[in-house]
Amino acid sequence: MSELAGRAAFVTGAGSGIGRASSLGLARRGAYVWVTDVDEAGAEGTAELIAREGGRAAAVRLDVSDEAQWTAALARSDDRDEALTVLVSCAGRSMIADTATMPLADLRSLLAVSVEGTFLGMKHAIPRIAGSGGGAVVTISSLAGLKGIPGMAAYCATKGAIRMMTKAVALECAELRNGVRVNSVHPGVVDTPAWHKHDPEEVGRSRHGSPGARVLDPHVVAETAVPIGVACSPAEVADTVCFLASDAARHITGAEIAIDGGMTAG
Ligand SMILES: NC(=O)c1ccc[n+]([C@@H]2O[C@H](COP(=O)([O-])OP(=O)(O)OC[C@H]3O[C@@H](n4cnc5c(N)ncnc54)[C@H](O)[C@@H]3O)[C@@H](O)[C@H]2O)c1
Repeated sequence: MSELAGRAAFVTGAGSGIGRASSLGLARRGAYVWVTDVDEAGAEGTAELIAREGGRAAAVRLDVSDEAQWTAALARSDDRDEALTVLVSCAGRSMIADTATMPLADLRSLLAVSVEGTFLGMKHAIPRIAGSGGGAVVTISSLAGLKGIPGMAAYCATKGAIRMMTKAVALECAELRNGVRVNSVHPGVVDTPAWHKHDPEEVGRSRHGSPGARVLDPHVVAETAVPIGVACSPAEVADTVCFLASDAARHITGAEIAIDGGMTAG
């Protein structure tokens, strides 16, 4: 598969989980991948995995909430032959907290990564993608961008914002006729390290997971929460990301694709 040969893709949050799987998928399709993450070791790990498979990638430390880091990271892509045609905005984290007790600072820190990070990526990458003749932006929203989840109001707020920002920017690009398509994907329960990053106290107090659980296991959660009964793998999300990034999706923009085993169907 070399449908993305000669093109470059820029992936945020690429040091782990869905971002790592998407980077691998894009590299397997021939793209040169800018593997970026605030976790530099994670980004390097992903770039090494790509290199081991014969793909091409560079690891870059990027905190998506920092505009100066965005311009510096994207400037590096200007120096390569492969035209930047894909942005995958994946950096994010989850948060379980009841609204009544959640500190405002926690909401703001989540907004900074998910909403400001997605905004800055689109602001700075889209002109470059347009300058390359067009391409695609894929934002990673969530089931939480489509449905309210009690105990996750802050997370739902960020993911809903990503969903609507994606649609608005898709229409801006359409008006400009700049050849850039912009779509969001909405995973449900995906087996990534994110599930194990929650504070055990938070999990214990929440209604997520089984009673008494201190760690959230996506496979256990999926048995009851996902209609098809199984958790999604990061690679399965990456397949949809790569499809949206490819020319096969040339007529799809402003769309939202749920990858949730039926969670939003009922
Ligand atoms: N795992 C799921 O079940 C699930 C479901 C729906 C949506 N999502 C979304 O998918 C995306 C990826 O999540 P994941 O499950 O792969 O999690 P993950 O924790 O495995 O990966 C997230 C990555 O984002 C990076 N990151 C965090 N803050 C950053 C910042 N400020 N700048 C740059 N990078 C930063 C982390 O270092 C990490 O490598 C997130 O946006 C998440 O909300 C995940």
